[in-house]
Amino acid sequence: MSNTSQTLSGKVALVTGASSGIGEAVALALSAAGAKVAAGARRLDRLATVAERAEGEVLPLELDVSDQPSVRAAVAATVERFGRLDVLVNNAGVMLNGLIEGADTTEWERMVGTNLLGTMYATHAALPHLLESKGTVVQLSSTSGRIANAGAGVYAATKFGVNAFSESLRQEVTTRGVRVVVVEPGFTSTELIDHISDQGSRAMAAQLATQMRTLQPADIAAAVLYAVGQPAHVAVNEILIRPTDQS
Ligand SMILES: NC(=O)c1ccc[n+]([C@@H]2O[C@H](COP(=O)([O-])OP(=O)(O)OC[C@H]3O[C@@H](n4cnc5c(N)ncnc54)[C@H](OP(=O)(O)O)[C@@H]3O)[C@@H](O)[C@H]2O)c1
Repeated sequence: MSNTSQTLSGKVALVTGASSGIGEAVALALSAAGAKVAAGARRLDRLATVAERAEGEVLPLELDVSDQPSVRAAVAATVERFGRLDVLVNNAGVMLNGLIEGADTTEWERMVGTNLLGTMYATHAALPHLLESKGTVVQLSSTSGRIANAGAGVYAATKFGVNAFSESLRQEVTTRGVRVVVVEPGFTSTELIDHISDQGSRAMAAQLATQMRTLQPADIAAAVLYAVGQPAHVAVNEILIRPTDQS
């Protein structure tokens, strides 16, 4: 991909959850487009591999988005290394599906802590730098941020929360030049479903994947790149992107 046009040359991005799936693809795509990228997640070994595969400079950062000091340290390390921050991609997330009745509520805490609070913490820590650079916040929400389904109530609640938070943020910062982009993917082939502990829910998700041509992480990365690459006066606020086969 070395002939990709360097549309993001001079820009600096921080991608959370960059050790696999969509976050990894977004980090690689931003790098290929010329951005310097800080790639955060808990699995540093996986991030080192992402950095090796990237076309440009990628800084691997150990990051737990549910831990506010860890988030602040990651933002500070990004700015210390690259001197600025233009794009924050709040991608880190877990989907621990299961029925509400009898659920293991520690999984609810993990989902809220990662998907919702993690996104809020990172936005809060990055915002002074984004206001300075007139940057962009990309929020990885979901079709579950628009439609709640049985067996995914808490996951959907976190993504509805991300959408609400993002619209408030947009109204607060857009006239100061910061753009907010909510990306809502449908079924995308990643390891997201492998972490579901409820066997019935995991089997159902795996079965669904066999019934359609799912999206690939690179499809979502292309949507992110489209939004981030717009001229400063164009704010792509929301992208809903589903597999054609997903009804
Ligand atoms: N796949 C889909 O169908 C789909 C659809 C709609 C939306 N999404 C959203 O897309 C995002 C990425 O998911 P994915 O499908 O690419 O799944 P994935 O491959 O499992 O990636 C999730 C990423 O989040 C990171 N992560 C999890 N907990 C974290 C924490 N506490 N701190 C920092 N990083 C953490 C993981 O890294 P470590 O484990 O190394 O920390 C991993 O890099 C999520 O927000 C998900 O809700 C996915």
